[in-house]
Amino acid sequence: MDTDVRNILVTSALPYANGPIHIGHLVEYIQTDIWARFQKMRGHRCIYVCADDAHGTPIMLRARQEGIEPEQLIARVAQEHKADFAGFRIGFDNYHSTHSEENRFYANTIYERNRDKGHIVRRTITQAYDPVEKMFLPDRFIKGECPKCGAADQYGDNCEACGASYSPSELKNPVSVVSGATPEQRESEHYFFRLGDFEQMLREWTRGGHLQEEVANKLDEWFEAGLQEWDISRDAPYFGFEIPDHPGKYFYVWLDAPIGYMASFRNLCDRTEGLEFDDFWGPDSTAELYHFIGKDIIYFHALFWPAMLHGADFRTPTAVYAHGFLTVDGQKMSKSRGTFIKARTYLDHLNPEYLRYYFAAKLGAGVEDIDLNLEDFSARVNADLVGKVVNIASRCAGFLRKRFDNRLSSELAEPDLFAGFVEAGAAIAERYERREFSHAVREIMALADRANQYIDERKPWVIAREEGRDRELHQVCSMGINLFRLLIGYLRPILPGTAELSEAFLQVPPLTWEALATPLTDHPIARFKPLLTRVETQQIEAMVAASREDLEATPGRQPAADTPLSREPIADTIEYPDFARVDLRIVRIAAAERVEGADKLLRLTLDLGGETRNVFAGIKSAYDPADLEGRLTVMVANLAPRKMRFGVSEGMVLAAGPGGSDLFLLSPDQGAEPGMRVK
Ligand code: MSP
Ligand code: ZN
Repeated sequence: MDTDVRNILVTSALPYANGPIHIGHLVEYIQTDIWARFQKMRGHRCIYVCADDAHGTPIMLRARQEGIEPEQLIARVAQEHKADFAGFRIGFDNYHSTHSEENRFYANTIYERNRDKGHIVRRTITQAYDPVEKMFLPDRFIKGECPKCGAADQYGDNCEACGASYSPSELKNPVSVVSGATPEQRESEHYFFRLGDFEQMLREWTRGGHLQEEVANKLDEWFEAGLQEWDISRDAPYFGFEIPDHPGKYFYVWLDAPIGYMASFRNLCDRTEGLEFDDFWGPDSTAELYHFIGKDIIYFHALFWPAMLHGADFRTPTAVYAHGFLTVDGQKMSKSRGTFIKARTYLDHLNPEYLRYYFAAKLGAGVEDIDLNLEDFSARVNADLVGKVVNIASRCAGFLRKRFDNRLSSELAEPDLFAGFVEAGAAIAERYERREFSHAVREIMALADRANQYIDERKPWVIAREEGRDRELHQVCSMGINLFRLLIGYLRPILPGTAELSEAFLQVPPLTWEALATPLTDHPIARFKPLLTRVETQQIEAMVAASREDLEATPGRQPAADTPLSREPIADTIEYPDFARVDLRIVRIAAAERVEGADKLLRLTLDLGGETRNVFAGIKSAYDPADLEGRLTVMVANLAPRKMRFGVSEGMVLAAGPGGSDLFLLSPDQGAEPGMRVK
């Protein structure tokens, strides 16, 4: 093992302060935590910091909707986030907030230094403005009809029906999602960060071994497309930091968000003897700096962030590591299916160690999405952790207690086998270091198989019944406990809770990698208590049911993190004859299927009682097609056919909700039949 102690600062992306932590987020926090715990166990000085990302329009509006100040909202959410992370044993060394004085200081510093070097310019832009709320509207807060296909109720940046992307000013009949008013176009002066000034530096940096290969390749496409100036200011009202020399103008949330990494670390330095900010962030820092992020925020971390740091004379990251997205049972997490599982809901039903293990068993160093298959989840946890690892200890502990007063033998039965396990540690450590956790797990489980095989061959339960074989029984069981200790040591970054219980059982201080090489001999152990119980199917079912209930139980449910408000304003009054022209029919969904190449659409075959229609509906994120087949719903039957990218859509089904996984198809009461007219 290295004798040089490395100085390592690790971060995870800062979760938005307007929504709960869910199991998708946890892919990232668990991945980072395993890596940080591994480094600490190796004896390095590794510091893991994070914070809430507390600024921006969605947070401002969310607070307004709840009738509280943004400061109150972010204080409450910070408590919830911290409790959720603690529940999953995410071992942050510090958890701070971007709405903090440290962050204001570094945001100003980075802005001013870049400004003084000419990297910030001002330009007047035209932007949608809500005359009722008196605020400029981000793209996601404007809805209207798609300029290409005419689909209603589309966001200001792209169309869910035909996939076109456009600018919000092109939308037909646009409305503000905040007030329902028709947005105006207004001018405003904005501040731009000249990313292009850093092209040379960024081209070198992105090819300098700081990124995963596939990420670096993706960046080449962005270089090809040309580095655009980045709009870093927003007009009041905004929840954020005012730009120092320009009252009424605020830093865009994504400017100060990554600076939150520095702020959180600074906050820790101010409380920690011997921890110096400049040692980690100064231009001559020799420390290592790693950011773990999701693949959706690469642009910010691999282009803007190193450029901003460089322009302000801070060091750039050693590496940015992106991971993929979580799917559950092969699909995007869905509230209606009960697979949008909040961290808290999970903790109400299941042990966090299970999920940590499952994610570790699936995580690699790349950006592929990872799937949580709920059946595979319990099978794997039960077979590996309960069936293989914990089993070894429980198979040996009983004899040690009954016959040897809970004391391990002074010699090992098989020193070579022990040495083989110790040697295997080098390869396992290498896997952890490279974030190839699934390989580390595979190698550890191969050792667990060998340990069980050893016990099976030596049959302590047979030896125990024979006269004069006490010494052998003692050595075999002590050997088993020693192999168990190595397995738990290797799993410790993944299973901190189980490791802690095991350390109490073994009566040893927290295991370090180095300590593992020396066996435990002539050593007292504690009475064995079950370290981990099996996952039961009912627990999973209850968790899924609770995730579904969550949705129904919350009146006036809040929209997901960055979707706008779900309560839309009532539209202008129409006369009855206008309504009567809309022919609504009960239909049976005869078939539903995914559409190759379409992110949001399902192809529905609708039975109108004799006639069938082909309809493309933007409900893929909310429904599993298999669940739809056979059910009744309501369609607009006399809508003019529309040609879409994937075929002609002959009508429309009716659903409520803001979109994404928050969508609810209408259903008639029992007795309704396909073809009936709705009036
Ligand atoms: N606030 C920004 C990050 C600012 S970092 C300076 C943000 N917040 S987030 O709450 O939306 O996401 C936090 C992290 O969780 C991101 O890295 C994101 O990629 C990750 N994930 C969010 N949902 C996820 C899944 N479903 N699956 C895997 N990771 C996910 O982005
Ligand atoms: Zn369209």
